[in-house]
Amino acid sequence: IDIDVAQEKAEVAPTMYGIFFEDINRSADGGIYAELIFNRGFEEANLPSGCTYNPNDKRVYAPRKSVYSSPEHLRSWSIPWNIEDTHPGWTIECPADGKYSVRIDDTDHLGVEDSKAMYLSIDRHAAPFRLVNSGFYGLAVKAGEKYDLRFYIKAAPGYKGGVTAEILTVKNEVVASKRFALKGDGEWKYFETVMKPSQTMNDGRFALRFDSAGELEIDYVSLFPQETFHNRPNGLRKDVAQFVADLKPAFMRWPGGCIVEGLTMENRVNWKNTIGKPELRKGEYNLWGYHSTNGFGYHEFLQYCEDMGAKAMFVCNAGMSCDGRNGDYYDDNEVEVLIQDALDAIEYATGDAKTTKWGAVRAKNGHPEPFTLDYIEVGNENHSAMYAKYYNRFYKRIREAYPDITIITCLPMSDQLSWIDGYDMNDPHFYNFPSWYYSNTDYFDKFPREEGHKTYVGEYACNMGVGSGNMEGALSEGAFIMGMERNSDLVTMTSYAPLMENTKCRMGVNLILVQNDDVIGRSSYWVERMFTDNRPDVNLAIDTQLGLLPDKTTPVGGIGLGTYQTAAEYSNIRISVDGEEVYSSDLENNPGEWIAASGDWKIENGKLIQPNENGTGSIMLRDQWLDAVKSKIISVEFDAKKL
Ligand code: AHR
Repeated sequence: IDIDVAQEKAEVAPTMYGIFFEDINRSADGGIYAELIFNRGFEEANLPSGCTYNPNDKRVYAPRKSVYSSPEHLRSWSIPWNIEDTHPGWTIECPADGKYSVRIDDTDHLGVEDSKAMYLSIDRHAAPFRLVNSGFYGLAVKAGEKYDLRFYIKAAPGYKGGVTAEILTVKNEVVASKRFALKGDGEWKYFETVMKPSQTMNDGRFALRFDSAGELEIDYVSLFPQETFHNRPNGLRKDVAQFVADLKPAFMRWPGGCIVEGLTMENRVNWKNTIGKPELRKGEYNLWGYHSTNGFGYHEFLQYCEDMGAKAMFVCNAGMSCDGRNGDYYDDNEVEVLIQDALDAIEYATGDAKTTKWGAVRAKNGHPEPFTLDYIEVGNENHSAMYAKYYNRFYKRIREAYPDITIITCLPMSDQLSWIDGYDMNDPHFYNFPSWYYSNTDYFDKFPREEGHKTYVGEYACNMGVGSGNMEGALSEGAFIMGMERNSDLVTMTSYAPLMENTKCRMGVNLILVQNDDVIGRSSYWVERMFTDNRPDVNLAIDTQLGLLPDKTTPVGGIGLGTYQTAAEYSNIRISVDGEEVYSSDLENNPGEWIAASGDWKIENGKLIQPNENGTGSIMLRDQWLDAVKSKIISVEFDAKKL
């Protein structure tokens, strides 16, 4: 590689590295959001309206908007989490001879649409009993720290007795408790206190212990650490939020991802349901198969951006649900509502507290000064003519009202960009195998640069052929990132997706792994950290002579030397173990004794040959070498010629 330090090429934008947040794999409740009680509002088993659950195939079906009703026109989605359990997360513990019944009832005592509460009927043998919650896969608390407890109870007329809130160890030792008197008058009552456990644990439980029989209703049981990231109320887990902030993201995108689109239009993320008092927010079963409380909502997102010093990017629904061509969508005359929602979202973030409606709501929610909102993306992965038509309406209205905001279309690098009237940035997404990333470090080289148009790679991850993510995938992402940096006159923003998972709810490949008392970065996180900790400001002119690089290393049945997908010919193999040459061959000496070849690979005329560009298979050292090289450094060199 020749580097000409005197010749500066494209600048690397300071906005280059940001984060993409979506409530997927329980990354909000059970992830970054600090709430400790799982299913606090008893709404976990709510399905989106209009959708039905089929117990035979364990799928949720969203109705198609149009009149077709045959099964192939129904959209089905992932197996819902514990949907047959009406009150997941909660159990009753009572004396063995006691009887009780539980049901989940509709209630509007807080005035929230689709709100539920737990109804309990306890016979005298079942008292005293405990209503227990184990948090998000174990309750994690720290000795001496303060936790705000809030809950609502309605005791039926005649109910006598009290309730004791308890934090318990896994062996039922009480490490914090507080008793409240209950009045049996059939009225909902609100209770709150601060709990201070005497023990640190990650396998604890929370319980409400009732000492009498009778009928009770319980709703919104919340246990929330006082200490949060920047000590915000209803805030974020300090360890997790800091770990994300350590990436020093230049921007943060919210709320996704496919959940922006929803299973149905009604099921889309509606930001207006995500603000205000947490117990008054209508949660939503999201298309990743569980219920989002919306506790980590639009306001918390804007606050988090401010606390991290990141620019905020809001993504709005563009008039179609996930897979809008076959799924639910809005007609022309319904789209106006969504455009107004998007304009209101901008006003909520940036409007004056005294003179604008949504600015005033923001002030009431605790932030009189405007936040900043630099970017708005219209739609997510919608690539249709309908999208282009609707997008143009959003674009016109947003541009007129907010000339300075950066408007992003979700269209990829394609001719479809010519269908739309204008955009500042477009947003291609990439999910692929390591080999794809290695062979596409020049992906952006070929696209024309147009005045005023930049690219935001909103989602990328090596998530194929790498299990739940591994070093091989992470390295290939590093190669791709270098290609984006090198093309930073076009690509000025990137974000890995998905950002985070609760490890007990694992699906796919995520950057950060969260448990109830721990957070770690996968190899991809550390690759990204390497880039964000060492941000260049400019590219230098380089001249590279490319060797033949491994596309994929797959040790199978021996020691893998690599899957080289490039058409090439290899000769003169030298193998050293701990620096000592143990084998040297021009391959005329029966190479098959040492090397095994699979797939397209051939051992021919004294050479190892991969005849095909994008070929399959791999070459490896035979098994008998395994003992000889165990715990040693083995190096293999060869002469390579591209065919
Ligand atoms: O990152 C996970 C999902 O992948 C996102 O929600 C979606 O935009 C993409 O298809």
